[in-house]
Amino acid sequence: MVAADPFLKPGLHQAEDILKAHGVDAYYRSAAERTGDSHVVIDGRKVLMAGSGDYLGLSTHPKVTEAAVAALRRFGTGVAGSRVLNGSLDLHAELEGRMAAFLGQEAAAVTAVGFLANLALSALLGREDTAFVDARNHASLVDATRLGWGKVRSYRDLTHLRSRLEAAPADGGRLIITDGAFSMEGDVADLPGLRSLADSYGAKLIVDSAHDMGVLGPDGAGLASVHGVSVDLVTGSLSKAFGSVGGVLAGPSSYVRYLRSNARSVLFSTAVPPASVAATLAALAIIMAEPARRLRALELAEGLHNGLRGLGYDTRPSTTPIAPVRFPSLAQAGAFWAGLFEAGVFTNLVGPPAAADPMIRLALTANHDDTHLATVLSAFDEVGRRLGVERQPDLPPVVLTR
Ligand SMILES: Cc1ncc(COP(=O)(O)O)c(C=O)c1O
Repeated sequence: MVAADPFLKPGLHQAEDILKAHGVDAYYRSAAERTGDSHVVIDGRKVLMAGSGDYLGLSTHPKVTEAAVAALRRFGTGVAGSRVLNGSLDLHAELEGRMAAFLGQEAAAVTAVGFLANLALSALLGREDTAFVDARNHASLVDATRLGWGKVRSYRDLTHLRSRLEAAPADGGRLIITDGAFSMEGDVADLPGLRSLADSYGAKLIVDSAHDMGVLGPDGAGLASVHGVSVDLVTGSLSKAFGSVGGVLAGPSSYVRYLRSNARSVLFSTAVPPASVAATLAALAIIMAEPARRLRALELAEGLHNGLRGLGYDTRPSTTPIAPVRFPSLAQAGAFWAGLFEAGVFTNLVGPPAAADPMIRLALTANHDDTHLATVLSAFDEVGRRLGVERQPDLPPVVLTR
């Protein structure tokens, strides 16, 4: 018997091979430079970055980069240890206090990256517990429930969730876990509906607000604040609207304390470096002091969605700055992606497993201006005409979640 080669399982490399056969090289493209107006230099060419999670353009903001440099000089490059033992700085505690207040929660814990904040949720899933998870949850939430001991029940919509809650064992804890804004399609979870089901069935509601914290809600506190819904725990990434790196868990003090004492991704991983903490603190101060930046990002995003829809490219189901345009095949999406790249616009080419349908995923940042938006739209128009891509007439405008 010949043992199977563990390195020959299906994966992204298959999509890469299909695309390469069509002359498309879309993944792991590296930039030699990034500029403050959200451009990148790839292969010696300056292209407009229209696929970044830096929604507020803060990763190159002078106050953010200067705060990072000052912390780097003062504390060094890393803390060489986990928060629980030798890795904690006053700076971490300050960020946790400010993040908790910003998110309207009692307490917060900061982790090295958002993926690890979500993995911490595995500590909530004992053998007797059940996690009810949206079928489109981010990979890190999927892995968190895989790592936990409890049962996992995936749901498609609220009706399906209700039936799964009905069928769940009466004893044992119940957790409903969802993305706030879904990272690929850009639509948002029905938090009022989820809260009501959670209350009816005695479940805790946990929301990953990686793509909505800093962006949505009257003060930018995320999707829950749009609806005035209380959630039991919020998780998120500091690598998107905050333009830095890190993850966050926020909720009642006793919940955060439990996770800080039980979650292995918190206990057994080095603390987020001081420069990143200082950058997040500076970004948070800007988010709170300059709501116009967030509103500008939303205005540009609305222009992007409605411009694409005006050209006949549907961006449903998104109601956030993430604009997904679907294609019937990966090869067609790839050809479109390559055309945009040639025209000087960098987007994200997404296929399975990140999304069921091949798509080009776009997002602008608050650093882009109307000329940049016009560049993206005219590139879309030109590439679509050249490739003879089918368009849909009379798509109604979208109103973004705010
Ligand atoms: C919804 C969601 N949650 C969590 C993460 C992980 O965050 P991080 O990149 O900080 O690890 C991401 C992506 O980066 C995400 O899109």
